[in-house]
Amino acid sequence: MTKQSGENNKTRMVRMFIPYVSKSAVERVSNTLQSGYIGEGPVVAEFEKGFNTLIGTRYSLALSSCTAALHLALAVCNVGPGDEVITTAQTMAATSHTVLAHYAKPVYADIQYLTGNIDPQDIEHRITARTKAIVAVHWAGYPCNMEKILIIAGKHKIAVIEDAAHAIGATYKGSPVGTISPFTCFSFQAVKHITTGDGGMLCCTQEAAYHKARRLRWYGIDRKNRKPSELGEPIWDMAETGYKYQMNDIAASMGVEHLRELSDILERRRLIARIYRQELKDVPGITLFESRDDRKSAYWLFTIHVDNRLEFVRMLKSRGVEASVVHLRIDANTVFGPLREDLVNLGRFNKSQISIPVHNMLTDKDVEHIIRSIKGGW
Ligand SMILES: Cc1ncc(COP(=O)(O)O)c(C=O)c1O
Repeated sequence: MTKQSGENNKTRMVRMFIPYVSKSAVERVSNTLQSGYIGEGPVVAEFEKGFNTLIGTRYSLALSSCTAALHLALAVCNVGPGDEVITTAQTMAATSHTVLAHYAKPVYADIQYLTGNIDPQDIEHRITARTKAIVAVHWAGYPCNMEKILIIAGKHKIAVIEDAAHAIGATYKGSPVGTISPFTCFSFQAVKHITTGDGGMLCCTQEAAYHKARRLRWYGIDRKNRKPSELGEPIWDMAETGYKYQMNDIAASMGVEHLRELSDILERRRLIARIYRQELKDVPGITLFESRDDRKSAYWLFTIHVDNRLEFVRMLKSRGVEASVVHLRIDANTVFGPLREDLVNLGRFNKSQISIPVHNMLTDKDVEHIIRSIKGGW
């Protein structure tokens, strides 16, 4: 992982995101492509096993995306037409699209201004007889208050699904994200901490849920227990509607190799975040986010609140640095609308949130340049 660079910051753009594909991933993909088997096979199983060992999860299913993982988790929870799912609008579209795809209704709770995460105190009064699940998103990789969310869900007997697209490797009160709620969904999309091109992982804590998700991953067919037939096509019975959501061995080849680098990637991101926090804490016009000792962020993003956001973005751009809001509140979109006026913190958040680069391809010079630029004012 590059930490120093001879490149001149004036001549190249410091990007918000850069896909990271290791040399060993390229080699492994090449081997798989020539192996005679490229569908869902042994490498997918190896990736799931490696993920379980590294993260500490028990039942992981490799999928084509985090969107697929969210859709599948909702299916396993029997979310269907007319049901309600309490969630956040401070996220990427997938978190709510998957609810609509089950003909259910996303019900938005407010967020916390200093985390971007769903506010547990705004959940309970939104629960109705139709509420089936809570979908919490760990904004930027900083874990939500899972203790409170799980207590509320337990009291009302509703499911909890964590959208951990930003949060691979994050921990909450000593537990790795992926081991806390019945369902956790991860993303390996192009610019996530580790990529498989596109891909996702659904982690279940219950064996029965895992088996159901595994069947639904591939058309409701129990692939493990198919019986061979002399006529060629194995024998099975499809008793339920499923999907085609499995990961293939080409993508998993990248996953297996990138998993080996996850700890280094997280360490680098956390180091950059520590430097930003230290250096930017007293800069006028900047408000840093909450960072509690009981949880470790995975820092997919480094989001802050800034005064005069547009001027801030323009100043950074003029100095060769990208900054971005990454995701604006999704209820502003017609499909999820109308914009919810009662979500006060969500409104405040979206007026001043901005993310600056934090990925592992940033050099030390990039980080210094970003800090110097911000300290110079906007
Ligand atoms: C919070 C969140 N959830 C879900 C997704 C969807 O992930 P994927 O692209 O792997 O389907 C994303 C993608 O960036 C995301 O940011």
